[in-house]
Amino acid sequence: EASDEELQERIIDAKHELGSKLLILGHFYQRDEIIVHADYVGDSFQLSKNAATRPEADNIVFCGVHFMAETADILSTPRQNVILPNMSAGCSMADMANIDQVTDCWEQLTDICGSAPAADGKQQIIPVTYMNSSAALKAFCGRNGGIVCTSSNARAVLEWAFERGKRVLFFPDQHLGRNTALAMGMSLDQMPLWDPFKANGGATPEQYANAKMILWKGFCSVHQRFTVEQIERARKAYPGVKVVVHPECSMDVVNAADGTGSTAYIVKEIENAPAGSVIAVGTEINLVNRLAAQHPDKTVFCLDPVVCPCSTMYRIHPAYLAWALENLVDGKIVNKIVVDPQTASEAKIALDRMLRVHP
Ligand code: 13P
Ligand code: SF4
Repeated sequence: EASDEELQERIIDAKHELGSKLLILGHFYQRDEIIVHADYVGDSFQLSKNAATRPEADNIVFCGVHFMAETADILSTPRQNVILPNMSAGCSMADMANIDQVTDCWEQLTDICGSAPAADGKQQIIPVTYMNSSAALKAFCGRNGGIVCTSSNARAVLEWAFERGKRVLFFPDQHLGRNTALAMGMSLDQMPLWDPFKANGGATPEQYANAKMILWKGFCSVHQRFTVEQIERARKAYPGVKVVVHPECSMDVVNAADGTGSTAYIVKEIENAPAGSVIAVGTEINLVNRLAAQHPDKTVFCLDPVVCPCSTMYRIHPAYLAWALENLVDGKIVNKIVVDPQTASEAKIALDRMLRVHP
């Protein structure tokens, strides 16, 4: 078995050989041994745009999770290959909604709410999918007047949706949907959950008919771990601490925090904080530890004292990256992510709508 140092050297050598025809993208949650090799590091929104702005790169190696690589494939040119170094790097939240479940939900909701536009011309329901979803769900949104959002543009996207529709069906993350809708002034009684494992979604037809936001019952197992007690403990230990959390955290945690936003927002908050600041963060540990190391003049720590990595992001081990790159050097493409053309073109409609709302 190769040592860590050998793996790092093999990656550097292969990368050197592949030159500008190779683009390595790294999500903020990747481990440091991967991040050092990335041409771009960013949140899921920034990375998908990077994929679209480097047409000269024949091969895009995406160090992140499956839905991100699919999005890069959809937004890149057809001749570019997108490679996910480990095919088992998925996202447990994205897996909480599949196309059959969403189609079933949609049929039931259109039975309840009607499918013809309302008197004011608005669509009865606009489907909005979080970026953390399969290409099939993005395509569903593309062909049903819907749109994609990320944690950095959820509010602007929901404003777009409510200009066109009376209600929103939001999947798969209930927390991002709820937190954003609350910030826009909606109330909890306007946001029934849709539980795909309960008969008829689990709420009454009246609740769905009267809803503004119908929230799919999905969640992120990493962000769901953060609690209000952890925030209280941090405030006690460090009076004056600033608490920033990702919007995939629960409503109570978001309400108890000082700021909420995407990984890019969290990075900016820490970069812009004056020296001596104390910042407690509610997001994945690899990002928090890296930010702490990059800012020795500030105290940056994770709210969760028990290490909480995203286990699937972590599956991009340097051994997989070395393997994928060395195959490219040999002219072989391994672990290529291919979204079928029909799905890709419909998903692109929903992604392009998002990019117009939030370029
Ligand atoms: P960002 O869009 O903030 O990068 O988040 C992606 C993600 O998977 C968060 O859990
Ligand atoms: Fe999915 Fe959560 Fe991991 Fe993000 S942190 S990739 S939402 S499981």
